[in-house]
Amino acid sequence: MRFFLDSAHVEQIEQAQRLGILDGVTTNPSHVASTGRPFLELYKEICAMVDGPVSLECISLKAEEIVAEAKKLVKIGDNVVIKVPLMKEGLIAVKELEAMGIPTNVTTVFSAAQALLAAKCNATYVSPFIGRLDAIGHDGIDIVSQIKTIYNQYGYDTQIIVASVRDPQHVLDCALLGADIATMGLDVISLLYNHPLTDLGIERFLKDWEKVPK
Ligand code: G3P
Repeated sequence: MRFFLDSAHVEQIEQAQRLGILDGVTTNPSHVASTGRPFLELYKEICAMVDGPVSLECISLKAEEIVAEAKKLVKIGDNVVIKVPLMKEGLIAVKELEAMGIPTNVTTVFSAAQALLAAKCNATYVSPFIGRLDAIGHDGIDIVSQIKTIYNQYGYDTQIIVASVRDPQHVLDCALLGADIATMGLDVISLLYNHPLTDLGIERFLKDWEKVPK
């Protein structure tokens, strides 16, 4: 299972890289806005520092404009993946971009039926937002399970990037379902390390070590 960092903050990317478990980065307009930096120089810096795919999101709403925007973004680096929102015009653009050899990540996906459409348009990645579904009383993981079943059933190559991941249980559930990738913030990655029994275990060993003759 691959781990992507869901962030546009260079310092956070560096921290995730230091942990040695970073396989790629996903950005979105909100993450970029939170850095306060001009987007082009930021994208260049991120793409240069990451050894793996970096998703950069198109903000156009018409297919031709999305394709034109994507063609500019893809020049930033060999690892650029074009993030396109799930909508009619977006899907038309995805099919075209994939035919041109430009990898896409279909984003803001909230149902398995939407994910089926993304696969039919040959998207390289699909991003179901599970945390936002949970927040409105749906079961985000259930959608991932449905997507996995559908993709296996028909042999679609589209890879599932589980997004809007909120906690370690989400990551575990995704891993059990065989999701290809989970993209998450540094806060969720940090939570993965924590376990109260681990803390207690370390504390006990250190206490006992004090009794060892030195
Ligand atoms: O980047 C896409 C997605 O992971 C955003 O998630 O719900 O934390 O804004 P959210």
